[in-house]
Amino acid sequence: MKNIGIIGSGTMGIGIAQVAATNNCKVFLYDQNALQTEKSLEGLQKVLARLVEKEKISQEESEGILYRIKFCTDLKELKDCDLVIEAIIENKEIKQKVFKDLEEIVSDECILASNTSSISITSISSELKNPARFLGIHFFNPAPLMPLVEIIPGLLTEENLPQKIYDLMKLWGKVPVIAQDIPGFIVNRLARPFYGEALRIVEEKIATVEQVDDAMRTVGNFKMGPFELMDLIGIDINFSVTKTVYADYFYDPKYKPSLLQQRMSEAKLHGRKTGKGFFSYAKDAVKPVP
Ligand code: NAI
Repeated sequence: MKNIGIIGSGTMGIGIAQVAATNNCKVFLYDQNALQTEKSLEGLQKVLARLVEKEKISQEESEGILYRIKFCTDLKELKDCDLVIEAIIENKEIKQKVFKDLEEIVSDECILASNTSSISITSISSELKNPARFLGIHFFNPAPLMPLVEIIPGLLTEENLPQKIYDLMKLWGKVPVIAQDIPGFIVNRLARPFYGEALRIVEEKIATVEQVDDAMRTVGNFKMGPFELMDLIGIDINFSVTKTVYADYFYDPKYKPSLLQQRMSEAKLHGRKTGKGFFSYAKDAVKPVP
């Protein structure tokens, strides 16, 4: 698989593009928002410059990665792709619409995948003409650094497809795992109570955001506390995932979303990507939002 299409150049899309381009694939990266594309390109240039500075890659490799990523303004530019990975907003209907459009553009052999964190793969594929070529390929944030990739066949996915993607992910240096099509798959199901309890502790004024994060880093030996991590993931994305998992487990109270997270999402306090979440990311200052 040489030509990889990616839809959505946000947090995940640009990271997956970097992974594929590092592995010598030609990447066609499409986003409906041209401003986002520019922002992503700038971000990637900075990431690559840092890697060169730290001597993790050479200047030539950095240029090669950038050269292999084509930023597209029209979905039709993905027509020759062997595999397309969608990484847009976490919304089933919008994802279904994108795949319907895509089916009219790519060849019958092209594999279609979603990077969804929580939406049923079977349900996204249900509107496709050929759902057998569809599956979930779930990277973690930041995609170039996190080794795990969940591969999720839906009920209608062709039997040999998960193994084919498993082999590709190995080739890309990842640690793939084949997961069942259940809400949140493995990691996001397991992580729901982690974020949920952290939010409840703050809502009940048992501890502050900083105290919770400090405790988890110090005692739990976690690299990041739950609030830092939510800011990294994006509060909007994290909230959408929780809502999906809650609804898809038939409103099991174990997964109940937090009102604090809902209000922050409404206020667009999405974390790093908007400059403010549980912490502020203005310049170098990392301070709790008042
Ligand atoms: P993001 O909000 O950073 O980026 C989404 C991008 O998609 C934006 O640039 C937006 O302009 C674009 N977009 C939205 N609708 C579009 C459409 N119809 N056509 C083309 N482009 C469109 O979101 P993020 O965080 O990259 O998440 C993307 C997907 O990856 C979601 O399904 C999310 O659940 C999943 N994911 C997110 C992780 C995270 O930590 N943020 C981790 C793993 C998966």
